[in-house]
Amino acid sequence: MKKLLSLLLAASMCVVLLAACGSNGSADAGKGAASSAPAASAAASGDKSADKADGDAAEVKTIESGKLIMATNAQFPPYEMVADGDGVNGTGFEGIDVEIAAAIAEKLGLELQIDDMDFDAALTAVQQGKCDIVLAGLTYTDERAQLMSFSDSYAQGVQAIIVKDGSSITGPDDLANAAMIGTQRGTTGYIYCTDDFGEDHVAAYDNGAAAVQALQNGQVDAVVIDKMPAETFAAENDGLKVLDTAYTTEDYCAAMNKDNEALTKEVNKVLAELKADGTLDQIVAKYINAQ
Ligand code: ARG
Repeated sequence: MKKLLSLLLAASMCVVLLAACGSNGSADAGKGAASSAPAASAAASGDKSADKADGDAAEVKTIESGKLIMATNAQFPPYEMVADGDGVNGTGFEGIDVEIAAAIAEKLGLELQIDDMDFDAALTAVQQGKCDIVLAGLTYTDERAQLMSFSDSYAQGVQAIIVKDGSSITGPDDLANAAMIGTQRGTTGYIYCTDDFGEDHVAAYDNGAAAVQALQNGQVDAVVIDKMPAETFAAENDGLKVLDTAYTTEDYCAAMNKDNEALTKEVNKVLAELKADGTLDQIVAKYINAQ
């Protein structure tokens, strides 16, 4: 009950993060902005009986019957982190994506299992049918959509720039003057920076924390990474700041195997429900306020 109350409280202070939705960037903001939706949803009150009756959901096949296996890279706060305790539904993980995955699993009557790995490995895992779904603050791109089945967007991501206090890099244009830019391997930050500034000026690290460590050590002059993790890393590390100007804006989506369109369809249904009844806003607010 305490949790529900804090969710409701958080919802009232909610910063609406949702914007463009739809896997190819088509605007769906009206649906996403659930300002008039009731704050307490069926999901939040734990009423599962209605969801279980969903005929389509029964037809969804997953790799292991009864389970929804999610691959992610859980070094990406506040989207996915290793939990201090049991985590969401005993998964050992927490974060916005973890809560969304838990809601999807619950609606489909499946047990959520989370496999934590490097980000690029998570993308490979779903393509090879080793997991059912990737939720990882994953940005939609046309190239990735050739390889994976994307859901509608559930949030907007921004590629931000972290620098040391006093850096001569004060905005995206100055990245051209950086001897070295740190990124996470396999991410859009890496792709955009190598496209714009050339591979010789971009270093790829296993995860965001390693890229930030390289910035602290003076091995790179800036880190390009998604904004919410950037802010968390900057808050946790003395002498770092996130620049005000964004490098790019993108859509976050879940990704499924190309052969499992049935799951994509169900995920889109659940996302639409979570948007319409305010649950998604509550989840986001819970983790933003916790920072
Ligand atoms: N949004 C970026 C991308 O899709 C970075 C995502 C990294 N996610 C993570 N869980 N480490 O490329």
